Amino acid sequence: MRKKIKIDPITRIEGHLAVEAVIDDGVVKDAKTAGTLFRGFEIILRGRDPRDANRLTQRICGVCPTAHATASAFCIDEAFGLAGKIPDNGKLIRALIFGANFLQSHILHFYHLAALDYVDAVGTVGDLAPFVPRYEGDYRVTGKANAELVNHYIKALDIRRKCQEMLSIFGGKMPHNVAIVPGGVTEGPTEDKITNFLWRLNEIRDFINNTYIPDVIAVAKAYSDYFEIGKGCRRLLSYGGFDLPSGKLFKAGVVSPDLKSEVFAKENITEDLKHSWYADSDSGKNPAQGQTQPELKKEKAYSFLKSPRYKGDVCEVGPLARMVSNYVQGDAKVKELVDSLLGQLGAGVDALFSVLGRHAARALEAKLVADSMVDWLEALKPGEPIIVESKIPEQGEGAGLTEAPRGAVGHWMTVKDRKIDRYQVITPTAWNASPRDDKNQPGAVEQAILGTKVGDIDNPCELVRIVRAFDPCLACSVHLLSAKADKLGVFRVV
Ligand code: NI
Repeated sequence: MRKKIKIDPITRIEGHLAVEAVIDDGVVKDAKTAGTLFRGFEIILRGRDPRDANRLTQRICGVCPTAHATASAFCIDEAFGLAGKIPDNGKLIRALIFGANFLQSHILHFYHLAALDYVDAVGTVGDLAPFVPRYEGDYRVTGKANAELVNHYIKALDIRRKCQEMLSIFGGKMPHNVAIVPGGVTEGPTEDKITNFLWRLNEIRDFINNTYIPDVIAVAKAYSDYFEIGKGCRRLLSYGGFDLPSGKLFKAGVVSPDLKSEVFAKENITEDLKHSWYADSDSGKNPAQGQTQPELKKEKAYSFLKSPRYKGDVCEVGPLARMVSNYVQGDAKVKELVDSLLGQLGAGVDALFSVLGRHAARALEAKLVADSMVDWLEALKPGEPIIVESKIPEQGEGAGLTEAPRGAVGHWMTVKDRKIDRYQVITPTAWNASPRDDKNQPGAVEQAILGTKVGDIDNPCELVRIVRAFDPCLACSVHLLSAKADKLGVFRVV
């Protein structure tokens, strides 16, 4: 029997991603992921003071504003000729603010956006919001172990609050920190701030080591078939992230399906538009030349996301890409973390290309970042510079590429007559949840869904588990809704 199903929205928060799947004899034969709202920040930024990009792009998203603060600051640094001049304290405090957001985001993702696909909260607390409505599926963890996971759902809320407090010590507030600016940061280190940051960080590290990672392992053991589900395109991309005085924590690189690493060059990025609601005249351009021109009447278009490609290839971005990229480039700490976890699960590196592999990579990455943050705190030097002075140039160009919790994020800007002439943003979710490109290649999430066996088409647990493992952020990828839209669709949030 052939049937088309639509899950809209599929994301628990972070905007609206729609998934449409054609299922024939219980197997997904066709899949489309669609961002159903328009973002348009690129248009808002035209003609503004270049420094505004650092404030305004944070408003793209309340979940990942720190990623946009960082990418826009790098972008402006380059356009203003400041790249390479940022003081060590500035680099470290930028990284500590961003690191705090990483930890909050990864814990949010596992416990509050994904775990309810595996944990039977209703079985423990009954039919209470926010645990219903939901898809009825194979909830395999039972009894005391299940009740424990539900308790951790609550505990994780408190830990996330501590992450936000930690971010605010240097960043002023969350969301939309005020300290990461072009040239460095506006808040310097003091003994008092370092101590306040450290005790929270140690409590968060304890949670990651003794709760988050063991919970991911417990779920992995109960759902081991999900190491075989949602393999995806197997080509991974990392821009590299956390710029420290000693270099980058996450190495840039492109990893091919046979696990060979290639040097990353930003000139190889293009954005296809054939299946997106944007003018075809910009299709295939590098974001340093591209524009955002909405065109709502396009026959083959089905998404407000563009289709970023690397040398024309579909790539997956995110914790899996970063961990595997560092792993194949010989990073000793990542190799130890990954090998130890895979050993406990009795799985090989190939198993990482899966629903559970993405959750495991994210949990290990939380540990890597949290442990590294202790070293960054210790490297701070109270009283030394935190920022360099800057002047708006008559003209200039910049690119700010970094790694958001969800994957590679990039901002591109051209300055003309001391104003923004052109601005482009490519979010991680655009890489992962892109529609088909000009060569009709499905996007990374679409590829991960294709061929999946669905047990019950009224409760397509397999599909939501695959999509949510990518941690999509649609708020980042799209924005604004036309008041003239004639139909919003039927929403069933599950
Ligand atoms: Ni976001």
